Amino acid sequence: MIPPHIIDDILQTARIEEVIGEFVNLKRAGSNLKGMSPFTDEKTASFVVSPAKQIFKCFSSGRGGNVVSFLMEKEHFTYPEALRWLADKYGIQLPEDRPATPEELAAISERESLHIINEFAKDHFKANITESDEGKKIGMSYFVERGFRPDIIEKFQLGYCLNTGKGFSDAALAKGYKREFMEKVGLTKVKDDRYFDFFRGRVMFPIHSVSGRILGFGGRTLLADKKVAKYFNSPESLIYNKSEILYGLYFSKGDVIKYDQCFLCEGYTDVIAMYQAGIQNVVASSGTALTKDQIRLVRRYTKNITILYDGDAAGIKASFRGIDLILQEGMNVKVVLFPEGEDPDSYSKSVGTSELETYLKEHTQDFISFKADILLKDDENDPIKRAELIRDIVQSVSLIPDQITRNVYMQTIAQRFDMSEEVLANELIKLRQNAASKQRFTKTGPRKETPTQSTSASSDDPYAQEPNPMQEEAVSTQPEIVTGFDHNEYDLMRILVQYGPLGLNLKQRNEQGEEEEFETSITELICHELDIDELVFDNPLFAKMHQIITDSLAEKVLLKSSYFQRLEDQNIVKFVSEIEMNEVEISHNWITKHNIYTNTEKDNLHKAVMGSIFSFKVSKVEKRIGEIRNSLTKNSADLDDESLMDLLSEQVALEKVKRIIAEKLGRIVMR
Ligand code: CTP
Ligand code: MN
Repeated sequence: MIPPHIIDDILQTARIEEVIGEFVNLKRAGSNLKGMSPFTDEKTASFVVSPAKQIFKCFSSGRGGNVVSFLMEKEHFTYPEALRWLADKYGIQLPEDRPATPEELAAISERESLHIINEFAKDHFKANITESDEGKKIGMSYFVERGFRPDIIEKFQLGYCLNTGKGFSDAALAKGYKREFMEKVGLTKVKDDRYFDFFRGRVMFPIHSVSGRILGFGGRTLLADKKVAKYFNSPESLIYNKSEILYGLYFSKGDVIKYDQCFLCEGYTDVIAMYQAGIQNVVASSGTALTKDQIRLVRRYTKNITILYDGDAAGIKASFRGIDLILQEGMNVKVVLFPEGEDPDSYSKSVGTSELETYLKEHTQDFISFKADILLKDDENDPIKRAELIRDIVQSVSLIPDQITRNVYMQTIAQRFDMSEEVLANELIKLRQNAASKQRFTKTGPRKETPTQSTSASSDDPYAQEPNPMQEEAVSTQPEIVTGFDHNEYDLMRILVQYGPLGLNLKQRNEQGEEEEFETSITELICHELDIDELVFDNPLFAKMHQIITDSLAEKVLLKSSYFQRLEDQNIVKFVSEIEMNEVEISHNWITKHNIYTNTEKDNLHKAVMGSIFSFKVSKVEKRIGEIRNSLTKNSADLDDESLMDLLSEQVALEKVKRIIAEKLGRIVMR
């Protein structure tokens, strides 16, 4: 448990724009910041962060809340994990900030345990290259020999796993880490009753999430033996999903944003070498085929990818699929082919920084000429090969979602191959129609469940609405603010949250029939009014908040909006954030809507509150009347005389109540 005063401290210190800035490229838009939603694959920015209010709102997915809600949604943290992450980022000491005991470790979530073990491993391997003899002689020497500067070795947190067999595992066990978890992240292997270090004798490259957590490792052998796998990699685990990670992005995202471009290469050492040479907007796919998720990861920061290819050409054809995927995501793709026998690592080391920059500039090609060069080579005039290639390239272009971009490329193709644009256009149309019918077909398949989907929210909760993750084309998304809530319920709860603790002077007649003034809080007034009429909120979220409010009222505590922002229930946090996001607009509307013009602020507030209470009551009465009417028209045949009479008299009574309340409401509005 993190004590409440530390939670306050964390929430007061954390800056939402800094935290979200680690995941999203945010640009100023008035007093807010705006960027692409990290939750959907939208193509126009509708993700808003308010530094002043310390809240965010994602208009394309409907998510919103404070910095904690963001981390919980984005990183799948639990509430305490999100707080811990923030405390760590902002250097806030947590009481349990000593090495956790085995009991404490058992209690925190498995996910967090895996992170902790990886973090420990990273530090352990890192210390080896400066503190142990073997680590210095073998690990550090290797890096130095490869020309990695000390600051770069430090920055990328490189290390070495001793060849002793189980040095790391023993150190981790001595710390109280569970062997089961060490196995899960792949650091320890167990055979029969013996265990050993999976990466023994290898130099270690930690793999970071965009927020800098260690998700896994690549371990390179130092042996030249071809029979030994050059790299061992951490297995997939609860925290490591290879297809969603790009090596180096944690370090490069700043420059990717700055230069609005991302270089993509193959290996760990390529990233590090380029980075050292001063080209720091670089990531690696780590030797595997590029995935959609990896591309979307980049797209959060830039739309421009440049793929760097080794000069040996092997495997280039296999990578064409990656180019298509990038195009399909609506991004621009360029390529650079390095000289024969060179990769980004070797080339950047053989030339200086400026020469490397010049090379990159001069050898950047669009994917069309690149494909043509690779596929045609010496067969430029072979008509069959040419036709095949043209179809192949048009196929790639057909994947681009934006029509104008497609047309520009079609012109390039027409010029490059001296073809009529009309013929090409016909081919394109055919391909797109085929693709569309195929997509319709696959779209009816089973839906994949996304882990971000909230499972706690009940189905009639408007916050339970999730965007369709399969939605491919960007359908224009309506900003939703108060949709899904009954507006009378919303209004009353909003007043409770925003103004609850404020005092009001009310008049009441005492036993002698004299008018006397007394002071009460808005919270008490509203709760009392609902209580006497036995009215409740129908919306489960509001019902829960109402319960929290009345519970603390019983303890004579009035809750402020900041109290709700600290709660674990992120649906509440989201609602309160939404109110704050719309503070100016809504209260302004509200005043005009209810036509309230009064002399003093207090008076104004008093009327606003009473107006909301009466509107709430009227809406409940109307709802009940509606229900009665419904039974009377639909089921009247099934009703016996007595029930029929009961309903009718209830209806009459309610109509009267409604009139009375409406009159009261009318007086407030008119005056
Ligand atoms: N890779 C891997 N397993 C292997 C070989 C390669 O996982 N057995 C991945 C690694 O992520 C590696 C990338 O593919 O970084 C590129 O491979 P390669 O170019 O062979 O490795 P480099 O990182 O360039 O290593 P080095 O320069 O030391 O040869
Ligand atoms: Mn290499």
